[in-house]
Amino acid sequence: MSPALLLLCRPGFEKECLAEITAVAAELGHSGWARLEADSGFIRFECASALALYDALAPLVFARDVWPLLAEIDNLPAADRIAPILAALTTTLGTEAPAFGQLFCDTAEGDAYRATARFAGKFVHPLRQALRSDGRLLAKDDAKRPALHAFFPDSSRVWLGVDRPTLRPAWPMGVARLKFPASAPSRSTLKLEEAFQVFLGPAWRERLSDDRTAVDLGAAPGGWTWQLVKRGLHVDAVDNGPMNDELMATGQVSHHRADGFRWQPEHPVDWLVCDMVEQPARVAERMLDWLEAGWARQAVFNLKLPMKQRWACWRDIRERIAERLAGRQYELQARQLYFDREEITLYLALEDRP
Ligand SMILES: C[S@@+](CC[C@H](N)C(=O)[O-])C[C@H]1O[C@@H](n2cnc3c(N)ncnc32)[C@H](O)[C@@H]1O
Repeated sequence: MSPALLLLCRPGFEKECLAEITAVAAELGHSGWARLEADSGFIRFECASALALYDALAPLVFARDVWPLLAEIDNLPAADRIAPILAALTTTLGTEAPAFGQLFCDTAEGDAYRATARFAGKFVHPLRQALRSDGRLLAKDDAKRPALHAFFPDSSRVWLGVDRPTLRPAWPMGVARLKFPASAPSRSTLKLEEAFQVFLGPAWRERLSDDRTAVDLGAAPGGWTWQLVKRGLHVDAVDNGPMNDELMATGQVSHHRADGFRWQPEHPVDWLVCDMVEQPARVAERMLDWLEAGWARQAVFNLKLPMKQRWACWRDIRERIAERLAGRQYELQARQLYFDREEITLYLALEDRP
């Protein structure tokens, strides 16, 4: 098998995913290539030094999940797919390797892969049993240990790989499992909830529990504001559009009908969030204005990417952020979230504020 990384992404973003891994690999001294299948939701990045590249990787923006391939099997017999998988693990790892902490059966998310996804969803159970009987998998899941991944391009082929827990997404394959809260004013609410979980980690609710105030630019009808109100914050919601009545009735929201690029707070706030549909570079500059002025401690914001040059657009904005914050200490995280469409979401905080 040729060494490679498997990267999962939003279907339709294979090009961006490849551009990003190619650029990151080059920065780390590696190179590779991939044959793209449009709208598949995955790329296989062929790279002679895939394992070393994987070890050096930080979370990527356009990849929902990434792990290196260990083995691949074609022509899995329908009557017994398990035996060849166990045999491949013995050939690749020997018999003494430590047991995996978890098993994931992965598939691509693209429309063409729906039947395979259904198959993998069922197959995970007997495979898990067999791996446990074979001593390959711990009797009880342990998320802190490397996990075994079995990716099925179709039900007769499998690519096996092992991940690093620190690079593993919050949900299997990066597909956020969040329920739409009945009282939230818009589905966008899930985007901010996912952003908090991804950027702040599993203890995100505790991290928000001491915070009191937030500003939401481009807030209407109020899905993002709703998340902040739920956590007990008072929110200044800036938008010329109408806010949801129930949300306003909580008494925790002040609605300002104003231009989000001009409005300024009277006092510094704990959080700035922004979902304005505007040019991404303009939004990023405004977020930097806020943080540099000390009007907010941290920001979560959405950048709507242009149809063409989406990767280049993000790269230029990242360079601009680095340029404006040169000499400052800051935390920047960026991800195309599961609930993001033609957009990415960023977390930015200045860490050297007085
Ligand atoms: C995608 S919607 C926001 C949805 C909202 N986050 C939610 O969860 O319900 C974008 C909003 O940005 C607002 N917007 C666009 N440009 C704006 C500006 N310059 N100032 C204030 N709001 C703006 C629009 O009126 C629109 O309500």
